[in-house]
Amino acid sequence: MEKIKLHDKTFRLSIPYGEIESAIDAVARKINDAYRGVEGTKAILCVLNGAIMFTSELMKRLDFDTELITMKLSSYAGTASTGEVRETMTISGDVRGKHLLIVEDIIDSGRTIEVLYNMMKDAGAADIRICTMLLKPGCYVKEIPIDFVAKNIPDDFIVGFGLDYDELGRNYKDIYVLDA
Ligand code: IMP
Ligand code: MG
Repeated sequence: MEKIKLHDKTFRLSIPYGEIESAIDAVARKINDAYRGVEGTKAILCVLNGAIMFTSELMKRLDFDTELITMKLSSYAGTASTGEVRETMTISGDVRGKHLLIVEDIIDSGRTIEVLYNMMKDAGAADIRICTMLLKPGCYVKEIPIDFVAKNIPDDFIVGFGLDYDELGRNYKDIYVLDA
């Protein structure tokens, strides 16, 4: 499909599935190389819901034994006066002492990944590496190194392959960009 409509907006095809697949093949090879010889328990942390499709494709390509832990981050506005945003998390397993690979769908400003990284450090992970399917390098303003990036993209709003616009669009296997 060249164009899709979700809620009130139209999106046009941007990254076809074949291209996503090749990018995942390449990043999986880098991850396999990086973890070769690493002793101890490995765990993948899949950040729900967006990273679910990427995580499943990535895991099939990994050649080392790893646990799978899922977590969901929900942001909510705090006091109206400060406009503070806090995160609550629900995590399916224990990361303490494990070699943790955080798997994200997309990193934009880096605000989410920074919060996550610090939470996992506090939770006692032995070491933490980050893998994202997509990175918007023009938007990323944080210091935390992003160890593995399947694909860099421009600063546009996209949907598909797990990514949503107001909860729709996650099921498309191609990636679509907002049609201006
Ligand atoms: P950050 O905290 O600014 O890095 O944003 C990361 C989160 O914002 C991701 O986990 C997504 O949920 C969401 N996000 C950022 N860019 C997009 C996009 O282009 N499409 C859909 N969701 C996005
Ligand atoms: Mg997300």
